[in-house]
Amino acid sequence: MSVYNFSPGPSKLHQDVIDKVEASIQKYDDTGKSILEISHRSNEFEELLKNISLNLTTLFNLPENFDVLLIQGGATFQNTLLPMNIDKDKKIGVLVNGTWGKKTYEDFKKIHPNTDLFEVSKNNLGEYLEKNNFENLDYLHITSNETIEGIQIKDFNEVAHSNLLVDMSSDLGSYPFSFDKVSYIYAGAQKNMGIPGVTICLVNKDFLIDVDNSSYLNLKKLTTSNSVLNTPPTFSIFVLNLVTEWMIKSGGLDYFEKKSISQSDELYKFLDENSNLFEFSSELRFRSKSNIVFKFKEDKYNDTFLNKANDLGIIGINGHRSIGGIRVSLFNSVDQSMFNYFMDFFKKFINESL
Ligand SMILES: Cc1ncc(COP(=O)(O)O)c(C=O)c1O
Repeated sequence: MSVYNFSPGPSKLHQDVIDKVEASIQKYDDTGKSILEISHRSNEFEELLKNISLNLTTLFNLPENFDVLLIQGGATFQNTLLPMNIDKDKKIGVLVNGTWGKKTYEDFKKIHPNTDLFEVSKNNLGEYLEKNNFENLDYLHITSNETIEGIQIKDFNEVAHSNLLVDMSSDLGSYPFSFDKVSYIYAGAQKNMGIPGVTICLVNKDFLIDVDNSSYLNLKKLTTSNSVLNTPPTFSIFVLNLVTEWMIKSGGLDYFEKKSISQSDELYKFLDENSNLFEFSSELRFRSKSNIVFKFKEDKYNDTFLNKANDLGIIGINGHRSIGGIRVSLFNSVDQSMFNYFMDFFKKFINESL
């Protein structure tokens, strides 16, 4: 049976990427070696890093004053790395409108006591952002897409601050955006951009300061060492390169934005047409285009829906264990035929089971 993987991450990869990975595990280009055996100090790896940097610059239209840094530790490590690289007299704010932002705040506060919490109650994000709550801050951290609750701040212009630190773990690569207000962006690769093991960081050079931290906690050292301060996750970086090539070939961020708007609009429209049956965790204006999160009001249907979907090979759509319900992740690799398969199942389920 075919499997239709809508996992929130690590998520589905395009088959072209998997085919290339498979071939390169046997033999990487004309090196006579497997990609698994490549040294991070080799010419081949240097070439790979150059390609990625070029591809990310092309994809994101990255301004000249930004560096690309690829490191380990996932998005979670950034919650330690970032506050350790901000002067103690600077004031940081962390906007919390979901689970991942809350975790960021808790870690930041331990390391950088001059961190303030800006917690938004449910369905109040729009109003909160419009008020100028952030005037006295040097930096504001936001989570552009709260993967668990399905809440997305897609337009950074909606946030009244101009030095943003952004966790884009679950939407980097799915739409173009402006770097005007950005000091630092990071994302674990395992949603839209590849597999776990590498975190993509897009670093405004003005953000880097001299600090006397140990090596792997020294952002300036990490960034200026071109991602090879120590042995990097070579295989994850290799997959990232393949994904960036596939993204460019597919039509870049404009293409993926159109796709995610079209698919998420269709799914939300269907949910709204049947709104008597469902509950949502995000307000209309900030509904995520990456993770569509909902619950059947009558709880028994959540399990029936998940079980029936599973029988048909639709996997990865269970809501996060902390909130339950359903979460359909529409990352870049979810193509139209896969999406249609899900929608057909969903419509049939509503017609026949309720
Ligand atoms: C928005 C967001 N931030 C942070 C994380 C944590 O990422 P990692 O497991 O790479 O540390 C996740 C994981 O799903 C996430 O979705």
